[in-house]
Amino acid sequence: MITHDQIERNVGLMIILTVLVVSVGGLLEIVPLFFQKSTTEPVPGVKPYDAVQLAGRDVYLREGCYNCHSQMIRPFRAETERYGHYSVAGESVYDHPFQWGSKRTGPDLARVGGRYSDEWHVAHLMQSRDVVPESNMPAYPWLAKRAAKDTVGADIEAKMRGLSKVGVPYTDDDVKGAKAAIGDKTEMEVLIAYLQGLGLALKGAK
Ligand code: HEC
Repeated sequence: MITHDQIERNVGLMIILTVLVVSVGGLLEIVPLFFQKSTTEPVPGVKPYDAVQLAGRDVYLREGCYNCHSQMIRPFRAETERYGHYSVAGESVYDHPFQWGSKRTGPDLARVGGRYSDEWHVAHLMQSRDVVPESNMPAYPWLAKRAAKDTVGADIEAKMRGLSKVGVPYTDDDVKGAKAAIGDKTEMEVLIAYLQGLGLALKGAK
């Protein structure tokens, strides 16, 4: 029989038992989430990103926008009044990996879709201070010069096929039409298409 006293005096044993207790607790909390409807099924209106948005999402990741922007509205009044309906898990089922984050140097972007015009986004990404004088968001002028098909769009078909393996319902036609949909769009255009699609499903709901 091991006594409490022995455990507290034996660091190795203490570590092993702590890991054991934490992992049992973790398993009980985490495993059910893989099977619950509320976390595995999309809420009505949530669609997979189309090819253009998916390429835009890769620009978002590559440029590290998530270092300053979360995409997770918490269920508090101050948040919902500012950003709209709080985020629910069923909105992120097609996001691999999701971009919830917690760092907010800038505002949350979970429902930024439709908040501004495409022209506003272009001006803002070229030089944020042209439209928001007090902004400290960096400028991203190179996005307007690069064709998405040469970078984030180059392997779009493989990306879509990969995502369909993990449950994103892309059809063969979606994959075949992906390159054509991206066409000659710039990285900035595909990024804006991504931003404009964010959070629309629950938009307006309070
Ligand atoms: C160094 C931190 C930082 C980085 C990196 C950053 N942003 Fe921002 N962003 C901000 C700040 C601060 C604001 C608020 C002021 C403003 O609107 O410019 C903002 C505002 C925004 C807004 C307007 C949100 C709203 O609701 O008004 C959008 C859209 C946005 N950023 C997109 C992006 C994208 C896309 C990227 C990556 C290409 C990015 N940001 C990278 C700091 C950042």
